[in-house]
Amino acid sequence: MYVLGLSCYFHDAAAALLRDGELVAAAEEERFSRKKHDYEYPEHAIDFCLRTAKITAADLDYVVFFEKPFVKFERLLLTSLQTYPRSHKVFREAMVSWLGDKLWIKNLIQQRLKIKADRVLFSEHHLSHAASAFYCSPFDEAAVLTIDGVGEWTTASIGIGRGTDLKLIKEIRFPHSLGLLYSAFTAFLGFEVNEGEYKVMGMAPFGTPRYVEDVWKLIHVADDGSFELDMKFFSFHHSTHQTFNQRFVELFGAPRDPHMNFFTASSGFPAYFGERPADFEAQARANQHYADIAASIQKVTEEVILKLALAAHKETGLTKLCLAGGCALNSVANGRILRETPFEDVYVQPAAGDGGAAVGAALYGYHAVLGKPRGFVMQHAAWGEAHGPDVTERFLREHGIPFDRYDDEDKLLACVVDRLYAGHVVGWSQGRFEWGPRALGQRSILADPRRADMKDIVNTKIKFREPFRPFAPSVLAERAADYFDLPDAARHFPARFMLYVVDVKAEHRATLPAITHVDGTGRLQTVHREATPRYHALIDAFGRATGVPVLLNTSFNLRGEPIVNTPAEAFNTFMASGMDTLVLGDHVVDKRAVIG
Ligand SMILES: [Fe+2]
Repeated sequence: MYVLGLSCYFHDAAAALLRDGELVAAAEEERFSRKKHDYEYPEHAIDFCLRTAKITAADLDYVVFFEKPFVKFERLLLTSLQTYPRSHKVFREAMVSWLGDKLWIKNLIQQRLKIKADRVLFSEHHLSHAASAFYCSPFDEAAVLTIDGVGEWTTASIGIGRGTDLKLIKEIRFPHSLGLLYSAFTAFLGFEVNEGEYKVMGMAPFGTPRYVEDVWKLIHVADDGSFELDMKFFSFHHSTHQTFNQRFVELFGAPRDPHMNFFTASSGFPAYFGERPADFEAQARANQHYADIAASIQKVTEEVILKLALAAHKETGLTKLCLAGGCALNSVANGRILRETPFEDVYVQPAAGDGGAAVGAALYGYHAVLGKPRGFVMQHAAWGEAHGPDVTERFLREHGIPFDRYDDEDKLLACVVDRLYAGHVVGWSQGRFEWGPRALGQRSILADPRRADMKDIVNTKIKFREPFRPFAPSVLAERAADYFDLPDAARHFPARFMLYVVDVKAEHRATLPAITHVDGTGRLQTVHREATPRYHALIDAFGRATGVPVLLNTSFNLRGEPIVNTPAEAFNTFMASGMDTLVLGDHVVDKRAVIG
């Protein structure tokens, strides 16, 4: 039986395909359309899923959409009517886009996939999130917590999963939303909403949470974790472009200019920003204020998430927790859940945001609606498209690109380790690209984490990103506990997907300067031999050569672009950046040989 899950028209569009309950393929549309956070109908991702399973749309038994468009439309309509006439723009835009095609998604799916009406099912937004975590987890029963911006009406929910049964038992409704609160600060701090939330999290350790009391004026939390926003500070419920209002600005000061370089006294002035300004101190002080605000919203967010997690524990009495929704990508909060709540095991799947709800919708249809038994556990993120050695070699030959091909893996890995050891920045593209926003060794840029200058080198050559954004370490799962404060690291699923931030052990902070954040933490990825054998073998070989089985891993893309998919995209990104070496499967390309 084939079940296709779809998410689109909100944040990230994606498709995911199940064959008899096992995931066959899953991908976000942006990787094919090359439009970051593409939210349109995911036709390329659907084609890719069908191609991977070697079927056509006629073979699909069901298609499950990740939310209920009419209920969402009702929310938009009612909210804009309540705040009319301030909301006239939202109202008009909602009418145009929703009455255009969003509302008629069922007809669209029927037409595009030539499938009967009774074969198109609808899940609910938070149920899809919950299903994406619970049904991918190895847990037979678990509490479920979903937190995001907003679905139809729900912005957070507590649920319970038992076998194939999944129910949401409590919810918080729009406009009271932790995700939208965090997004308001993301915008205030000069970053793009639904993209810059990571930057706020990265900026926070440079600040002191001195504005916590002020942030608590915006959100009131009860002991049972339920919360309310004080709407007099926000405008997201009646504006298409503003999330916070003048009262918010009176409380926190003017928003940060998005074009302002971020640096503080503790970060120093990175060379890749250019010449150190004469008024460095004044600018650093101005930035410090924003870092303090980032620290404050991060702290409050963590407190609210912890309260919700405690409530989920109290409600269910269970010791395992599945987390989903955009806020489940807050890896600092996730780390605290593990350390500070009674939950012993946590599961988060790598695409915890809206794209990931496609997999949840399909699994919800299969298990909860059709009542089919479970058997699938998401152990790795490699569900995207692969390009075999013949395709790669044809591409390289057609374009006259010089390369070495290694059919012996040991020799390939020895060559890559040599380059890393010599300080090269290596583009690494292997197998199927990752599901979700993080690069996990399938489409990664790799470097030696032991070098103090490597952060600046990678930023200067490729990422040009703010100095407050840490680079992540990939570490052999069996050696992770030697370097990071995560006992029994190998058994923690979120660490496979880079979704825990933990302390780098004090004695190793100096060993691993390029991946240790300013507060001594690291967003580690544990690499398991059985899940990603070649990446594991590479880190192992690097460990044998250097004594440190850890690599710096960042996503294989240029700033603002989606992560690469094809050999051509990888090569173009390689050439447009300062990367030294490119590895495409078994093929190695050297920059020096290309530019002669
Ligand atoms: Fe969501």
